[in-house]
Amino acid sequence: MSNKIRLGILGGGGDSLIGVVHRIASNMFDRYQLVGGCFNPNIEDNNSFAERIGIPLNRVYASFDILIEEELKLPVEERMEVISVLTPNFLHFPMAKKLLENGFNVICEKPLTTSYAEALELEAIQEEKQAVFAVTYTYTGYPMVRQMKDMIRRGVLGTIQKVDLQYYQGWINPVIHHPEERAKVWRLDPEKGGLSCCIGDIGTHAFDMLEYVTGMEVKQLLADLNTLYADNSLDVDGTVLIRMSEYCKGVIRASQIATAEENNFTVQIYGSKGSLKWQQENPNALIHLTEDLPMQVLKPGHDYLSEFSLDGSKIPPGHPEGIFDSMGNIYNGVAKALRNERHDEGAFPTLHDGVRGMLFIEKVLDSNANGNTWVTL
Ligand SMILES: NC(=O)c1ccc[n+]([C@@H]2O[C@H](COP(=O)([O-])OP(=O)(O)OC[C@H]3O[C@@H](n4cnc5c(N)ncnc54)[C@H](O)[C@@H]3O)[C@@H](O)[C@H]2O)c1
Repeated sequence: MSNKIRLGILGGGGDSLIGVVHRIASNMFDRYQLVGGCFNPNIEDNNSFAERIGIPLNRVYASFDILIEEELKLPVEERMEVISVLTPNFLHFPMAKKLLENGFNVICEKPLTTSYAEALELEAIQEEKQAVFAVTYTYTGYPMVRQMKDMIRRGVLGTIQKVDLQYYQGWINPVIHHPEERAKVWRLDPEKGGLSCCIGDIGTHAFDMLEYVTGMEVKQLLADLNTLYADNSLDVDGTVLIRMSEYCKGVIRASQIATAEENNFTVQIYGSKGSLKWQQENPNALIHLTEDLPMQVLKPGHDYLSEFSLDGSKIPPGHPEGIFDSMGNIYNGVAKALRNERHDEGAFPTLHDGVRGMLFIEKVLDSNANGNTWVTL
C-alpha cells in the first residue's frame, strides 16, 4: 500500500493564482497524493476543475463543512491527512480552526488569519491537538535562502547590525486609480483581504524572511503607510523602520504601487564580518560580501553549500530552480514532519511564524494609526 500522504485542498481552483504552485509542489518529491478537496465555491466550477486534473468526484465536496463531515466518515487510513487552505484570507481562520478541531494537519497560505487574536486561537488549538501546521511563506524554501539562514546561524556574518528588506510590486497601479476596477480586487476589500493589503500580502513575507534567516525577532517598529486615495481603506504601500535590538536596526519596504515592478523582493543582511544579498527575481545567486575578498556568488547544488541548502536542490548545478521548487521544499519539510523524519528546524514555516506575521501586521497598523510612533511587538 502506498505510503503517500493523502492531501486535500481548499480553494486553489483553476481560476486561482497559487493553486497550481501547491499542486506541483506537493508532487515534487513524490510524497503526496491529492485525493480531493473543495477547489471553488461554485459547484460546477469545482467539479469541472476536479475532472480536468483527474480527481475522482466522490471526494470533491461542495463546501469545506461537507468535506470535513464526509472525510470523518472514512477510516483513518483513507482519510485526508493534511489539508492545504488556499482561499482568500478571510477564510483561512474558520477553515484552519475547524480542520484542527477535527484532527487534520494543515498547510495554510499567508497571511495566517485576519487578526492576531485569531492567530493565537489557532496556536492554542494546535498545541492541544499536536497537529503539524505550516504557513506557506514560500520564499523560505529557496535553496539559497536556506544557505543564507545556515551561514547566519553558523556565525559567518558575525554580529548582525543592519537589515534591509524590500518587496516591491506594481500590480495595483493599473487598478487603484479607477474605483470601479479597485472594487473588483478582493485584496483591497477589508471583508475579504483583512486588515491590510500591501503589508498583509507582501510586507509579511519580508518580515517572515527577516526573522527566518536571522533567527532574531523584531522588537520594535515604526510604520508609515499609504492608501493613495482617501476612499481606499487598505494600504498599498508602506515603509517600516525596525529594531531587532539596541544595535541592530533596519527597514522593511513594501509596495504594490511601485509602478511596473514585478516581484522585486530583495533581502540584504549586514553583519560585522560580512554581508549577504539575495533577490527573488534572481533566486539562484546568493551574494556574499566580505572586506578581504572580491564578491562571491554562491549558486545552488554545489558541495560547498550547507546540508540544509543541498537538501532543497534536486538537480545538478546550473539548472535554474524557482518558485515551484521553493514551495516543493516546504511541502517536503511538512512531509518529513508528518512522517516523523529528521528535519531542519527551518524545513517549513510554522504556525508560530504565521502568528508572528499577524502580530507584525497589527503593530504596523497601530504605529501608522498612532501618527507613526514606535510600537513594541
Ligand atoms: N505564498 C505566496 O507567495 C502566495 C502567493 C499568492 C497568493 N497567496 C495567498 O494565497 C491565498 C489565495 O490567493 P490567490 O491569489 O490564489 O487567490 P485567488 O483569488 O486567485 O484564488 C482563490 C481561490 O479560492 C477559491 N475559493 C474562494 N472561496 C472559496 C470557498 N469558500 N471554498 C473553496 N474555494 C474557495 C476561488 O474559487 C479561487 O479558486 C491568499 O491568502 C494569498 O495571500 C500566497
